[in-house]
Amino acid sequence: MDIDPESLPVKERYALLTSFIQPRPIAWVSTQDGEGRLNLAPFSFFTGVTANPMTLCFAPARTKEGRKKDTLLNIEETGEFVVSIVTEETARKAVETSAEWPRGVSEFEKAGLTPAPSARVKPPRVRESPVSLECELSRLVSVSEGPIGGTLVLGRVVFVHAEGALSHEALKTVGRLEGDWYAPVREAFRLPRPRL
Ligand SMILES: Cc1cc2nc3c(=O)[nH]c(=O)nc-3n(C[C@H](O)[C@H](O)[C@H](O)COP(=O)(O)O)c2cc1C
Repeated sequence: MDIDPESLPVKERYALLTSFIQPRPIAWVSTQDGEGRLNLAPFSFFTGVTANPMTLCFAPARTKEGRKKDTLLNIEETGEFVVSIVTEETARKAVETSAEWPRGVSEFEKAGLTPAPSARVKPPRVRESPVSLECELSRLVSVSEGPIGGTLVLGRVVFVHAEGALSHEALKTVGRLEGDWYAPVREAFRLPRPRL
């Protein structure tokens, strides 16, 4: 199969991209708007960037109509967010919080999740998650502004909240695959790197 992505409608391009970039970790991003109203949503275009300073990134897309998602609007307004890690135990709730409620409606409340106070930023973390990373906005990179356009959000991690052992066996993180599919990390294998 040889494909020029520009020959596909955007929806199919998205389906193609997410069919081979997988499994993707899931950032469960909590934010607040300028009035302090809570928001929570999952984002699987998510990864680390550097440890110096500790920085991560995720990419909220524009809506089909080209509108910014609430998470991005809130980060633009306040410059702060918290990324909680999604595990086998919380995956179902995380997906529940992807429902596109109007701005100002708290997905914490809708999904029956507990906002726990953060140490360094205003938005709360998800108490049900074993790891949360408190972030200050480092920079926004707008890639495109039309329908399904994308913005890369880079956040500097200013505080880490972690409970229990930090290993794949203990955390039981899940990855997002294509469409509505998810995968646990059950059959991990070790491959030591060559050292010259
Ligand atoms: C597991 C999962 C991962 C998702 N990843 C992304 C993503 O990387 N980028 C994106 O724009 N939307 C993603 N979504 C959809 C958003 O979660 C959804 O649009 C949400 O309503 C955005 O919320 P907000 O408007 O409150 O920011 C994902 C949904 C699920 C269930």
